[in-house]
Formats: sequence, C-alpha cells, structure tokens
Amino acid sequence: MGKFQVIDHPLIQHKLTIIRDKECGTKVFREVVGEIANLMAYEVSRDMPLEDIEIETPIETSIQKTLSGKKVAIVPILRAGIGMVDGILELIPAAKVGHIGMFRDEETLEPHEYFFKMPDDIDSRQLFIVDPMLATGGSAIMAIDSLKKRGASNMKFVCLVAAPEGVKALQEAHPDVDIYTAALDDHLNEHGYIVPGLGDAGDRLFGTK
Ligand code: PRP
Ligand code: URA
Repeated sequence: MGKFQVIDHPLIQHKLTIIRDKECGTKVFREVVGEIANLMAYEVSRDMPLEDIEIETPIETSIQKTLSGKKVAIVPILRAGIGMVDGILELIPAAKVGHIGMFRDEETLEPHEYFFKMPDDIDSRQLFIVDPMLATGGSAIMAIDSLKKRGASNMKFVCLVAAPEGVKALQEAHPDVDIYTAALDDHLNEHGYIVPGLGDAGDRLFGTK
C-alpha cells in the first residue's frame, strides 16, 4: 500500500481555513491555493534522490549533496489542479507540466477525460498529480489509469481536501501511488461534495458557476 499522509503544518491549516470560508473571493482563493501547494511541495519532495558532487568552497574542496537530476513533471487535473501548479514550480522550477482534463458528470459522478497532453518522457519522470479535491476518487483513479496506459509508473497524488471514501477508492485502485492531502474531511454528501470541504474548487478558483 502506498503512503497516505496528511500534511497538517499550522501554516497549511490556517490557510485552508481561509479558503474554506464561503466569503473568500476568487482572488484570495487563487492566491492561497497556490501558497498551500507551495508549502506541501516541500514535504511531497522530501524523498527526492540526492547525489554527491565535489565543489570548491572559499575554504576547501568539499563533497556536498545535489539533486540527482531525477526528472519531475507536475500533472494538474483540469481545471482545478491548475491552481496548484505555480506554487510547486516555485520550489521545483525545472519540472515539466503535463495536463489531463477530467470532468465529473454532475448526475452520475462518473469522470470523463477530455484532454491529455504530457511531456513525451513521462515513463522516466516522477509525476506529481495535483487536484485540490479527492471526493469519490473517480477523477484521480481515471487520470492515473490513463497515465499508466501511456507508460507512467512513478506517481504521487497531491490534493488539498480528501474524503475518506476517495482515499479508500484510490488506495484500492492504485496501491502504488502515495497520497498527500492537507486535510482529511468527514464524508461526502448526497451530491458527491466533500463535507465540510470548500465547495466546487474549479468554480471558486476561476469565478465560474
Ligand atoms: C472536481 C475536482 C476533481 C473532482 C473530484 O473537478 O477538481 O477533479 O471534481 O471529484 P471525484 O473525486 O468525485 O472525481 P470537476 O469535475 O468539478 O471539474 P472542474 O475542475 O473543471 O471544475
Ligand atoms: N469536486 C469539488 O470541486 N468539490 C467537492 O467537494 C467534490 C468534488
């Protein structure tokens, strides 16, 4: 079973409360989603491999650590995942970005894929799949199915708010994928929304309804 981690640093909890508030407008919502993703990236990238290099400090020749050059791609699930990309790129600026478009049918809650564009070497990259919401898990599961079909094998899923139902479904479908979330909420309501959640992440990020 992959790792499941709630990254509940006080700064993250504070910022999450700001965006859960229904009075939080689009501008602040967008800024704070980016800030939380930035803070989460620090923990999500904790196991990135290092290697030794020899450098000259002003004092002596020294062996020090550098990232081993393992390649990363950030994969936002459209639309709402887009809000998390820049915050992660701030810490991992050399990462490439692939996009996968998924929408949930509002009646059946079934996900549908409508867009897929990746760097052509996803099979040799560490992928950080990002989407603020893990609700039923359908979108994340289908996105990862699709990435695996195209050769990806090394993936982490990063969200802001997860429902227990979605975590269970994703772990069962893809036990090899580590899951990171800023909060594990209580349950899904009858419309498939996370409770207490933060509402429709895509609409709140982009000001649509
Ligand atoms: C939302 C969210 C996830 C999905 C989660 O996207 O951003 O992708 O729902 O639900 P699930 O776990 O039950 O699949 P939505 O379909 O609303 O599309 P949008 O981002 O374009 O608004
Ligand atoms: N998608 C969202 O944007 N919010 C939810 O609570 C569930 C799915």
